[in-house]
Amino acid sequence: MEEKPVILTCAQPTGGLTLGNYLGALRNWSRMQYDHECYFGIVDMHSITMPCVPSELRSNTLSCLAQYIACGLDPEKSHIFVQSHVIGHAELAWVLSCLTPLGELQRMTQFKDKVSKLGFKASEPEDEKEGEAVKFKHSGARAQASINSGLLSYPVLMAADILLYNADLVPVGEDQRQHMELCRDLAQRFNQVYSETFKIPSAYVSKAGARVMSLADPTRKMSKSDENQNATIFIHDDPDLVRKKIGSAVTDSGNEIKAGQEKPGVTNLLSILSALTGKETSEIEEDFTGKGYGEFKKEVAEATIETLRPVREKYLSLSEDKTYLLSALQNGTAVAQKRAYRILSKVYRKIGFVERPR
Ligand code: TYM
Repeated sequence: MEEKPVILTCAQPTGGLTLGNYLGALRNWSRMQYDHECYFGIVDMHSITMPCVPSELRSNTLSCLAQYIACGLDPEKSHIFVQSHVIGHAELAWVLSCLTPLGELQRMTQFKDKVSKLGFKASEPEDEKEGEAVKFKHSGARAQASINSGLLSYPVLMAADILLYNADLVPVGEDQRQHMELCRDLAQRFNQVYSETFKIPSAYVSKAGARVMSLADPTRKMSKSDENQNATIFIHDDPDLVRKKIGSAVTDSGNEIKAGQEKPGVTNLLSILSALTGKETSEIEEDFTGKGYGEFKKEVAEATIETLRPVREKYLSLSEDKTYLLSALQNGTAVAQKRAYRILSKVYRKIGFVERPR
């Protein structure tokens, strides 16, 4: 029997999944389950690069699993697992980090963005004074955090997530392209240094929904961790909240419903509606000729609500069923561990680590 191409992809269990995650990622993942062997990870080890309340991380991880299944990922068809349950991610990340020049990590756009969000200058990380700390707010409590080295080496852990399964294809949103390039470089570098071991994985970025922008600031991507409550639509938001958020979305001067560089707000809403309905942007522009922003936003809101309705309903029915959720991880974790162990053992052998006594 011909082997199916292997897909590996993941999301962080940091807060709820967003309309961006759904349109740019999960909707495509669920469509790919039928003709690929799929590994879908919930990457809790990535989440701790930012301050995390332990009890929230625990409940967000199971909630992320419920959202995966609600979005159509099928634990009977695909291997769904939690990253920290599979031994090998951190081990391979260590090996790969020994092949990664520091400068490559310091140049990563997401690292620079996150560092500047925390209030440090990314261009001068060495200026960070020892003990200097930024204050964070979460769930009313305050915690302290400085720039940790996990934030810098995050893309190496991501490369390890992918290479540990020798994946052929990695479906991701536009924002992960740079991390994917590093992953491909690291695979090539390892193969050159230690002989052919890894496949070189390809990123799969779908055209529709690849970069959904914030409703409050359409020059930034829609993100789970945005502090502005109106910036992000979560897949479990109730219809009235979706109407409110889209109703208050930033639009642009003028009143024409037309995409363009000078109209990032309207362009974002147009591409959301296009990703939701499958219609071309130009067709939507034509439908709304002579109509106002109010009518347009109403249509975007209703299309969002209708698309998310079955997802939300399934999520609400699954989220309380912890027994089912834990059982849904069982098979995926075992299969993932078996594959990960085989590839990690091969890597260790190639590097020259002595075989473990049996
Ligand atoms: P994360 O958790 O931020 O996002 C999960 C997936 O959703 C996509 N995405 C978006 N797509 C369109 N518009 C948006 N506004 C938007 N926001 C997020 C992301 O591109 C991603 O596909 N580093 C990854 C997690 C990760 C990973 C991996 C991914 C860790 N290891 C290995 C693939 C393979 C991340 O933070 O995704």
